[in-house]
Amino acid sequence: MHMKTVPALTGCVVAVALSVSPASAAPDTTAMVRGAHFSPDTPSVDVYLTSFSGGTTTLALSYVGYGDVSKYQRLQPGLYTVGMRPAGASPSTPVVFSWKLDAKPGTRVLEIGCGTGNLTIRAKRAFPAVQIVGSDPDPLALQRAQRKAIRLNGISFERGYAQRLPYADGEFDRVLSSMMLHHLDGNAKSLAAAQVFRVLRPGGRLHVVDIGGNMTASDGLAARLVARSPHAAGSLGDAIPRVLAEAGFDCTELATQRHRFVGRLTYYRAVRPA
Ligand SMILES: C[S@@+](CC[C@H](N)C(=O)[O-])C[C@H]1O[C@@H](n2cnc3c(N)ncnc32)[C@H](O)[C@@H]1O
Repeated sequence: MHMKTVPALTGCVVAVALSVSPASAAPDTTAMVRGAHFSPDTPSVDVYLTSFSGGTTTLALSYVGYGDVSKYQRLQPGLYTVGMRPAGASPSTPVVFSWKLDAKPGTRVLEIGCGTGNLTIRAKRAFPAVQIVGSDPDPLALQRAQRKAIRLNGISFERGYAQRLPYADGEFDRVLSSMMLHHLDGNAKSLAAAQVFRVLRPGGRLHVVDIGGNMTASDGLAARLVARSPHAAGSLGDAIPRVLAEAGFDCTELATQRHRFVGRLTYYRAVRPA
């Protein structure tokens, strides 16, 4: 019998994915697991998961044949022994192969100022296993977002201001902010940065795209209009990275590009130091 620890998969693969929760549900801390058989020389197998803490078999995928990929099933986070037996063999039959599996709950993502949910929904579609929350103070925008996401699981929309986020310390792995910061005055920007820092876990990341950076009149009419808007102008130059650094982030400007409607867009990544 072989035994080794894997985060995800081996010959007959049992892959742990990020967890998924129903829309509007309370935060889901379960992991998701599914089995896939990619070994042409191995006949069909039954797969058992036994928790290290409890010792009872908690999940069995039956008759997993070459090329099969099972549906995801929920699993409490923790260490498991995964055991394979020939399909149909009695549970008392010795396993032919086993390994350890470290099941972890899914990545939690928050978008602040999500509006009608375009980015929240795109992020969910790009990374279906994440649990994502879109937050915005505008109830009508949130209603539209909810309607657009009706067929998706693991996504919810909740009312909140970035300056006072109704979430626990360290609750999120990632925070997104798209075209929101320029709506806030300087003080509100600082409060929002401090709140995002608080709700991110150490090592968690904030991704920002917004009006910002070195926008000049040569960036076009939109740039000249932005320069006259006090809040938006307050995002220019190094304003955003400065506010983020003051909140404790390690901030990097990733890219900047001229944009027809807003003059110039700048992308930042800010990491809460571990
Ligand atoms: C231009 S929209 C961006 C929507 C979305 N992020 C996107 O990129 O499609 C700006 C959003 O910021 C929201 N907003 C304004 N003030 C806010 C605040 N203090 N906290 C959080 N969101 C705010 C607005 O309600 C609006 O939905």
